[in-house]
Amino acid sequence: MQEIKKSVGIIGIGTYLPEKVLTNKDLEKMVDTSDAWIVERTGIRERRIAESDIATSDLAACAAEKALSDAGVSADEIDLIIVATVTPDMLFPSTACLVQDKIKASKAAAFDLSAGCSGFVYGLVTGSQFIQNGIYKKVLVIGAEALSKIIDWDDRNTCVLFGDGAGAVVLGEVESGYGILGVELGADGSGGDLLKMPGGGSRLPATMESVNNRQHFLQMSGSDVFKFAIKVMGEAAVKALDGAGLTNEDIDCLIPHQANNRIIQSAAKRLKVPMEKVIVNVDKYGNTSSASIPIAMDEAIKSNKIKDNDIVVLVGFGAGLTWASCVIKWCKEGNTVASK
Ligand code: ACO
Repeated sequence: MQEIKKSVGIIGIGTYLPEKVLTNKDLEKMVDTSDAWIVERTGIRERRIAESDIATSDLAACAAEKALSDAGVSADEIDLIIVATVTPDMLFPSTACLVQDKIKASKAAAFDLSAGCSGFVYGLVTGSQFIQNGIYKKVLVIGAEALSKIIDWDDRNTCVLFGDGAGAVVLGEVESGYGILGVELGADGSGGDLLKMPGGGSRLPATMESVNNRQHFLQMSGSDVFKFAIKVMGEAAVKALDGAGLTNEDIDCLIPHQANNRIIQSAAKRLKVPMEKVIVNVDKYGNTSSASIPIAMDEAIKSNKIKDNDIVVLVGFGAGLTWASCVIKWCKEGNTVASK
């Protein structure tokens, strides 16, 4: 069993999704694809797209304000903001600093975290350490993406998969036995080429040539990422459960990264978790990368699919390559009482 000091849990959650909906039928007019292909291969029916003047920090700040309100915590009580994203507003300053200013969290430290679609769970685990060790009391963790800005809208292999959105949680101390019980983080950098945006960094700064070569767009070897995801999702969840002294039979609710319905079903099958315990909303939002897990969790809480004392398992995979899982014993009421 992993040794946990103070118990840390989610004491507030909020999400933000842009209003503009892009359906598979809309995509049929843009690239050589079909609603039938997209639904059969991915389960995605539509996704949300941010307006041209909206950036990741705008989505993140909206989600953060909802999470603060849900927690009954004011922005000036936040000690640290972590934004997990692969679509920062710019290389620097960090999107977390931009959010700090937007929500007026004047005393909060702030930094970004890059772990692809595993980013939110990486952020959750990172943020919780500061509270477990008594350094901070309240930490805001946000997964936010404006993937539509880095998608090659002429590439049917990728443009049908992704969407924009943000999810945020407030972490605080909770009653012993609740909150985060076990974690697993991992990476295999040898798979970095499988999912990347090559241009715009110090390896390949922006030039006319790099723009003409479409190197400032997301590039992915879909079938390789698919195989990696199938393998790693179940393994990561089992390790996190093991750290909590639990097994797959204890899972009440599984919240996988929402990339592809076939990947989700395969992970559930490997974990022997029936689909009625699995949260799926990839049909409505596509793959929102680091935002997908908190968005799915918020929906699950609001629709009473997560109840007090449930064992909830979050599990994601993504660019890096990375994977991350976290086991949470949920009790919103108990958490709120303990957090005061
Ligand atoms: N419409 C129609 N046909 C298409 C489309 C499309 N949108 N996209 C690809 N095809 C074609 C391909 O060109 C290929 O045609 P060909 O056989 O003539 O060459 C055929 O469909 C099959 O392509 P595959 O890539 O083999 O299809 P697959 O069943 O693997 O599905 C998919 C592709 C959906 C991308 C799948 O591989 C997948 O979901 N991979 C994981 C992706 C993922 O999860 N990415 C997120 C990572 S997380 C992060 O950090 C961002």
